[in-house]
Amino acid sequence: MNEKYYITTPIYYVNDKPHIGHAYTSIATDCIARFKRLKGFDVRFQTGTDEHGLKIQKAAEKNGVSPIELCDHNSQIFRDLTEKLNLSNNDFIRTTENRHVDGAKYLWNRLYDKDQIYLGEYEGWYSVSDETFYNEKDLVKSDDGTFKTITNGTVEWISEKSYFFKLSKWGDKLLELYKNDKGFINPESKRNEVIKFVESGLNDLSVSRTSFKWGIQTPTDSKHIMYVWLDALTCYTNGVNYLNKKVDRMSEYWSNVTHIVGKDILRHHAIYWPAFLMAADLKLPKKIYAHGWWTNEGHKISKSLGNVIDPIDIIDNYGLDQFRYFVLREVPFGNDGDFSKKALINRINSDLVNDLGNLCQRSLTMIEKKLNSIVPNATNKGNDEKKLQDSTEAILIDGSEMIESFRIHDYIKLVWIHIGKVNKYFNDNKPWELEKDNEIRFLNVLASTVEQIKNIAFFIEPIMPVTSREILRTIGVEDINMTFAEMKRISVFGNKLSKVNHLFSRVQE
Ligand code: MSP
Repeated sequence: MNEKYYITTPIYYVNDKPHIGHAYTSIATDCIARFKRLKGFDVRFQTGTDEHGLKIQKAAEKNGVSPIELCDHNSQIFRDLTEKLNLSNNDFIRTTENRHVDGAKYLWNRLYDKDQIYLGEYEGWYSVSDETFYNEKDLVKSDDGTFKTITNGTVEWISEKSYFFKLSKWGDKLLELYKNDKGFINPESKRNEVIKFVESGLNDLSVSRTSFKWGIQTPTDSKHIMYVWLDALTCYTNGVNYLNKKVDRMSEYWSNVTHIVGKDILRHHAIYWPAFLMAADLKLPKKIYAHGWWTNEGHKISKSLGNVIDPIDIIDNYGLDQFRYFVLREVPFGNDGDFSKKALINRINSDLVNDLGNLCQRSLTMIEKKLNSIVPNATNKGNDEKKLQDSTEAILIDGSEMIESFRIHDYIKLVWIHIGKVNKYFNDNKPWELEKDNEIRFLNVLASTVEQIKNIAFFIEPIMPVTSREILRTIGVEDINMTFAEMKRISVFGNKLSKVNHLFSRVQE
């Protein structure tokens, strides 16, 4: 039995259509899920939509439709995006589904029965767009005296009856968790921020609202709607039947789960979520990773500035794999990054067209023309070929370690260094000159190049799955398991090439 690995994206709010931030979280998660499958793990990858709460209710009112009509419509757009991005998700969960609602109520009942929830009155600041309660000390006071969140979001003062979760009781246990398991919150800089926040003292958390209706009724009091984050976070357990009474084999995935989130929602995942689970006496996730935010040509992305980047436009203009490659390569995962068309075009023309595209084009068309499209056999491997083989082995070891520690950009760099070595090998050996004088060497160089192209196709699969499959199809490798074990087993010698096409087109600036 292969080891289980479960990875999740946040579930996306359906008040609006997807933007680059949603696409980014999903692509990065997909990259890790695919890499883990290549390593032989039994991977489950979940994404989905977050559909309750005031934010959604308000968006529905604004659009003149019922909340569920808005949710059905917009959730489908996010589901379509999973196809457009070529995500390999195994599940797409919606918080309006029964399996989710059952799980959320189950957690509530467990917390209630364990005396972790009490009735009180909430008075304080609330941001509808973040669906988050704020302490005044964490807000910024503007010149006109109003308060804003650090991302310049508006907050409103609310005062209503509410149930509270005894979060304040869990501070020490949380700190113990962060201390004992240094890999629980990643990257380290974000871990330190969370520790500081918890050390400064936690208040009990309001976990129900009474001033609107769109949400899950608390099972213990029908006048209260569950706080949307308590509801939403249970999507992770509900998707594998860990919380919804159906406990079955699928719940085994819960023993090894990684949550990928943006830095803005780390607090909910690294503080509230483990506190809820500990209080309910349930198992915790293994790892939480917070990535950075994108700006657009140097500016913060916001609807009011009108500079929201539509991932579908970028994909339609530049290509899916080009987009995936760019967002994963351009910015170290975990850092903030800037999206610019110039940078995207540079990456496409240099890394994809020049490095990877040319390598495949030059070597494979030579086989097409000179050898009737049949890949020759490498009968006599020397030192140069051995070096390439060592470089492949290094990717398997060091590259795995990089992905394990969420350094996706370093992994890509490593693969591109390898592509550079194969290009150099091809250039230095000048097969176009060898053909007449040294036929054996000529055949060896071409065969070894194709062997490396096969390896490269496996290495880039988590980043550019379409290109990976296209390369493999061209070199006659089809219907295979995409695992590194299979990569090592498969031989390309004697394969017949399919018609060799350009993998990428150069983009004019
Ligand atoms: N519904 C909550 C998550 C609940 S998970 C139990 C939510 N949804 S969201 O739609 O607002 O955001 C989803 C993701 O998009 C977050 O990980 C967020 O960080 C990411 N991004 C939103 N804008 C972004 C950028 N400009 N750049 C990168 N990612 C950003 O929060």
